[in-house]
Amino acid sequence: MKHLLAVVVLIVIVTLAVGFLLNPENLLPTLASEEGAFVDQLFSLYAFVIAFFFALIVVILLYSTIVFRRKKGDDKPGANVHGNSVLEIVWTVIPLGIVLFFAGLGAVYLKDTLKAEPDEMIVEVTASQWSWRFRYPEFGISSTELNLLNGRQVLFVFESTDVIHSFWVPEFRLKQDVVPGITTTLRLKPTLPGSYKVRCAELCGLNHAYMLAEVTVMEQAEFDAWVASEIDSGALGPPDRGAKLAGLNGCLACHSTDGTRSVGPSWRGLFGSEEILEDGSVVLVDEAYLLESILDPNLQVVEGYRPDLMPKVYGDTLSQEEIQDLIAYIRSLEN
Ligand code: CUA
Repeated sequence: MKHLLAVVVLIVIVTLAVGFLLNPENLLPTLASEEGAFVDQLFSLYAFVIAFFFALIVVILLYSTIVFRRKKGDDKPGANVHGNSVLEIVWTVIPLGIVLFFAGLGAVYLKDTLKAEPDEMIVEVTASQWSWRFRYPEFGISSTELNLLNGRQVLFVFESTDVIHSFWVPEFRLKQDVVPGITTTLRLKPTLPGSYKVRCAELCGLNHAYMLAEVTVMEQAEFDAWVASEIDSGALGPPDRGAKLAGLNGCLACHSTDGTRSVGPSWRGLFGSEEILEDGSVVLVDEAYLLESILDPNLQVVEGYRPDLMPKVYGDTLSQEEIQDLIAYIRSLEN
């Protein structure tokens, strides 16, 4: 009886301690979406059950090992235990019940998470190595920033131009793979204004760790002002249009504009410079060379850079005018 009481007390203490350590409030970032609340509730419940079973097993194991260890001089063989059918049935039925309970609860929460609201805002997300692009069909604008309205549900429609990526904003909790060749979707309702980050949660190549995008959850007035300023930017000059295109098409994921060497050469000071190619010959970076390098990046690769990394799609995905805007932007970074 004394041992049973001691074990029960220890199990309670260890459950509370481990439960505290696993508590999502201590482990997860701020919660900023309605759907995320379900995730946190499930997580809390899991954490509690995990803490209890951890305590149950570890406390009994360590208590038996330490308290009932062999006494000095006791050389008799231990009791021969043949098993216990009642115990085995109990420890099979209880976990089965727990697993079924969590499956049912998960199904109920999943149904709530997928529920569509009538005024949802659609955001088309394009993922490419290694950048995010967001199109807002309702307003006819595209951006490299994800700006959302507080309290308005969003339907994300995902496409990938190359490999598998995964859209994840830890504060929203939910995660969705972005798979080339198929369209995937995700619904979310932001509930907390603030700045967050989209992270790519699927290893997708060299710059995977830097495949980030800014997320801002805004109130209506701020959002309207942002939409208006994006629409106004249609009247920009070629270098500024090029700067925007460079962001939207993911160029800046590999080319810096401050002189820092990355996957590709920096655009700062590139125009007008002379570069040494793989074969030792020298090329002048002028409009013709930039145009050729955008359309067919493998033709004349500068020494020290890996060929075959830059996509060869820009001749198809960009108009001639857009390519000229990009070149104008690179030119504007001359020094
Ligand atoms: Cu995209 Cu990792």
